Amino acid sequence: MSITEQAVAAEQNAQASLYDRLGGRPGIEAIVANIWENHVSNPLINKRYADSDPAEVKRLVTEMCCAGFGGPETYTGKDMITAHKGMNINDTEFVAVCDDVLKALDQNNVGQREKDEILCILYSLKNEVVYQ
Ligand code: HEM
Repeated sequence: MSITEQAVAAEQNAQASLYDRLGGRPGIEAIVANIWENHVSNPLINKRYADSDPAEVKRLVTEMCCAGFGGPETYTGKDMITAHKGMNINDTEFVAVCDDVLKALDQNNVGQREKDEILCILYSLKNEVVYQ
């Protein structure tokens, strides 16, 4: 590849959607599988998921990430307030979920730029999730 071609490729990558930079649906499914594993082995939050159907939660979280990160999917689940209503989730649990997500991103060798973007998106949803 010439230097010009390399520059064009780098620029195209920089402008790609978060969805594409994570490897599209297969990349996001792999990350969500690790998020689930991290959640169910995290003593701060795993009891919350005791009655959950793993496949269904992973399907909905994958769908939400794909849609929110610029993919063609449509999210068919509940909005974040409705999904967490009545759970009285606290700040410690919220941070635990964020930590599990960041750990999953590391487990999938996701870059710093993408990790920063995802953490911002998670944090922007905090008020819709905690103390509902
Ligand atoms: C920004 C952070 C979060 C996001 C984006 C998120 C996303 C989601 C999504 C997409 C669902 C499925 C909604 C549906 O059923 O239609 C869900 C359900 C759920 N979330 Fe969260 N969540 C977040 C934080 C948390 C936290 C901090 C907890 C506490 C441990 C939590 C516990 C749960 C539980 C227990 C369910 C229900 C699972 C079930 O129906 O079996 N979430 N969440």
